Amino acid sequence: MNRDIARAAQLLRAGGLVAFPTETVYGLGADASNPQAVARLYAVKRRPADHPVIVHFDITERAFTWARDVPTAARRLAKRFWPGPLTLILKRSALARDFITGGQDNVGVRVPAHPVAHELLAAFGGGIAAPSANRFGLVSPTSAAHVRADLGADVDLVLEGGPSEVGIESTIVDLSRAKPVVLRPGKVTAAEIEAALGEAVAEKASDAPRHSGGLERHYAPRTPVRLVPAYRLDREIAQLKDKVAVLAFSRPDERVEYWLRMPRDPQAYAHKLYAALRELDSAQCEAILIEAPPATPEWVAVLDRLRRACG
Ligand code: TXA
Ligand code: MG
Repeated sequence: MNRDIARAAQLLRAGGLVAFPTETVYGLGADASNPQAVARLYAVKRRPADHPVIVHFDITERAFTWARDVPTAARRLAKRFWPGPLTLILKRSALARDFITGGQDNVGVRVPAHPVAHELLAAFGGGIAAPSANRFGLVSPTSAAHVRADLGADVDLVLEGGPSEVGIESTIVDLSRAKPVVLRPGKVTAAEIEAALGEAVAEKASDAPRHSGGLERHYAPRTPVRLVPAYRLDREIAQLKDKVAVLAFSRPDERVEYWLRMPRDPQAYAHKLYAALRELDSAQCEAILIEAPPATPEWVAVLDRLRRACG
C-alpha cells in the first residue's frame, strides 16, 4: 500500500482530518463515526452544526449498512452509477448519528470512483464524512493546491490526486421519500436517473430537506459575479468603470484584460469552472461577468453552479 494512504488512514483513525481527491471535487475527510473528529471538521469548514454531511465508502454493500431501508431504486442507481459522482439520501441506520445527519432521519451516502479515494476508503474500512474541502460558502476545490490555499495548516494531510475530472459536486438524489427527487444536479443527469429507474424523478421540491447546497450564495467567489446573455456581454463590459473579469466562449471586447475562454461542451466546461472562477477572483476586479451558456438540459448542472456563484 502507498505510504501516504496508510498514513492517511492512520490519521483518520486517530480523529484527524485528511483532504482527498474525488472525481467530483476534493473532500475534507473525517471518521464519520467519531463525534470529536466530525466536530473539528465542522469547525475547520466553518459550517453550521445542523448541516448534514455526505458519508463516503469504498463499496456499495458497506454504504448500505448506514441505511435502515434500501429501496430497489437505491440498488438500481448504485449498480448503474457507483462508483461515481452520485450521492443517495436514504433513511439512516443507527450507524448514522445526529452529528452526521444534522439531526435528520436520513443520511447521504456515496461511493466515489477516484482511485486515491477508493484506496483510502478501503484502507480505512469505514465511512468517511467529507464535505468539499473549502471554507463554507466558497468555491469547491478541484486540485490539492486549491485545498492548501483554502485550509492550509488546519488539515493534517492533503492527498494529491490531480485535477478533479468532473469538476462540480455530485448529483444528489433523495430516495427517502415516496418519489425520487434530485436535490442537486450534477454530471449524472435527471434523464439518466429516470432511465435507470424507469420512473419519473422530480427536481428539487420546495419541502426538500435542509442541505447547504440549497442556500443562496453558495459556491461563490468574493468578487461579485453576474451571468450575462451573450448578446449583452459587450454592452455590460462597457458600462463597468473599473477592471472587469470575463468568462466567455469567445474573446470579449479587446479592452478586457482578464478573461478566460470556456469550452462549448458542458462536461469540459464543468471540469474547468471552479479553477477558472478562482483565477478570475484573484484578479480583484469590480465584477466577474459570465457569458451565459444555453438553457438546455445538458447545461442544467453548470447553470446551477453559475447561478449560485452569482448569489
Ligand atoms: O461531490 C460531492 O458530493 C463532494 C465530494 C467531496 O464527495 N461533497 C460535497 O459535500 O459536495 P458538501 O458537504 O459540500 O455538499 C453536500 C451536500 C450539502 O448540500 C449537504 O447539506 C447535502 O449534501 N446533504 C448531505 N447529507 C444530506 C442529507 N441527509 N439530506 C439532505 N442533504 C444532505
Ligand atoms: Mg460544498
